[in-house]
Formats: sequence, structure tokens, C-alpha cells
Amino acid sequence: MRWLESGSGWPVVLLHAFPLSADMWRPQLAAVPEGYRFIAPDLCTRPGEGIDGYARCAGALLDRLEIDTAAIGGLSMGGYVTFALYRLLSRRFSQLILADTRPQADTDDGRAGRQALRRLLAEAGATAVADVMLPRLLSERARREQPDVVTVVRTLIEAQPAPVLDAAIVAMMERPDSTPDLAHIAVPVLLIAGEHDEVTPPDVAQEMERAIPRARAAVIPEAGHLSNLERPGVFSRALHDFLLANI
Ligand code: MLT
Repeated sequence: MRWLESGSGWPVVLLHAFPLSADMWRPQLAAVPEGYRFIAPDLCTRPGEGIDGYARCAGALLDRLEIDTAAIGGLSMGGYVTFALYRLLSRRFSQLILADTRPQADTDDGRAGRQALRRLLAEAGATAVADVMLPRLLSERARREQPDVVTVVRTLIEAQPAPVLDAAIVAMMERPDSTPDLAHIAVPVLLIAGEHDEVTPPDVAQEMERAIPRARAAVIPEAGHLSNLERPGVFSRALHDFLLANI
């Protein structure tokens, strides 16, 4: 299992989006507040285990690092995994972070889109997946004004082995609806959404804020889906404020 980490103190586990890796959290790992240890694993699963497999992988990392309780969260697919991990191991959460994600399962149209992406991946590889995903992941502004971010995201996608991407597509396509869980999340929750996120728009976060007892939502202005990469400073500030307010 590969993971990145930075800082020392209370653990904060950050789970990555599709089709990326732990490296998407580098801006947050470079700005860890005093008294915290940020940990970002590459998600892994076994064939057929789907989203629960990723959750067990994250749970196994907690065991390996001898971490009993942590603030745990993720962005987009990382959020889907966070819901699954909370179902398996709720007592190991001190706080929960859900960024640019949604509780609902895929719609039928969404599943058809996933199958098309699997075919594209099989026929044309990760570069073709990057071509399709970049306009979904990054806002128009970022694609125009932040060529460095575009390069980082493309490079991370193209570094992913095709079987890893395919397993993630299947896991997302088959994930259950987490909406019934929202009312039962007992720990403080931070919801983050990029203002211009078209995959999981801010109103999804605002709906979750109403459904989760101890949640608060932060909108990252002028950011798309990968809000932590487009506006790393604003994202990190929202995360740090939340951690410090909920010690
Ligand atoms: C992600 O960012 O993890 C994915 O785009 C989420 C999804 O496709 O549902």
C-alpha cells in the first residue's frame, strides 16, 4: 500500500478522487497545520469488492499506522469511499470531510456513461480517459488560467494503470445509495463544494448539510470539481478552520 503523509499530531486521512491518486492532495500535504498529521493513501481494492474494498483498504492503513481514531474524508470518489468506511468503522471517525461528492448512487444514465468510459479505456487507454475527464474535473476558468493544474491532473490520470481505473469505474457504478446514512452520521462533518463543480454542484452539499445533524458547508469560489487543486489555499483554510473548531 502506498501513501503520502506530512506533519505530526492528530491524524487526518484524505481519500482521492477518480481517476487520480494520493498525489492530488500534495497542496494540502504541503500546508498541514501545527498539531496535525495528514495522510493520503492510494486507494486499493480486490476484484469484486467494489467500494467496500476501498473502504477496507483505508481501514487496513489505519491499522497498519496504529491509528485508532482520525478525521477522515475524501473528494468525490474519495467521498463515496468515506461513506462506505463510515458504515464499516464509524467509531474510528473523529470528524468527517466530504468534498465535491454526493450520497446518491449512479442513475441509469450515469451507469451507461460509466460503461462507455470503460469501453474507451479498453480501446484507447488512460490518455483518452484524461481527454474526457479533464473538462468535467476542472472549471473552464482553471483550464484557461491554470495550465500547471491542467498538467498535474493530466499527468496523474495518465500514470494510472488501466486495470486500476477500470476497477474504480465498476466500484463507482455499483456503489449503494448512502442517502439513508446521512441522518445517522454522529460526528462533525465538513462539506466542501467548488462553486462551479458540475459533477457534484454546491446544492448537493447544501442538501447534505440539511440532512446531516452536525454538518456545515463551505463553497469554494471560482472552483470546479477538483476544488482542492484549483483553489488550494481556500480549500485548506476551510479544512483547517473546521479541524480547529472541532477538536
Ligand atoms: C471523481 O471525481 O471521483 C469522479 O468524477 C466521481 C464520479 O465520476 O462519480
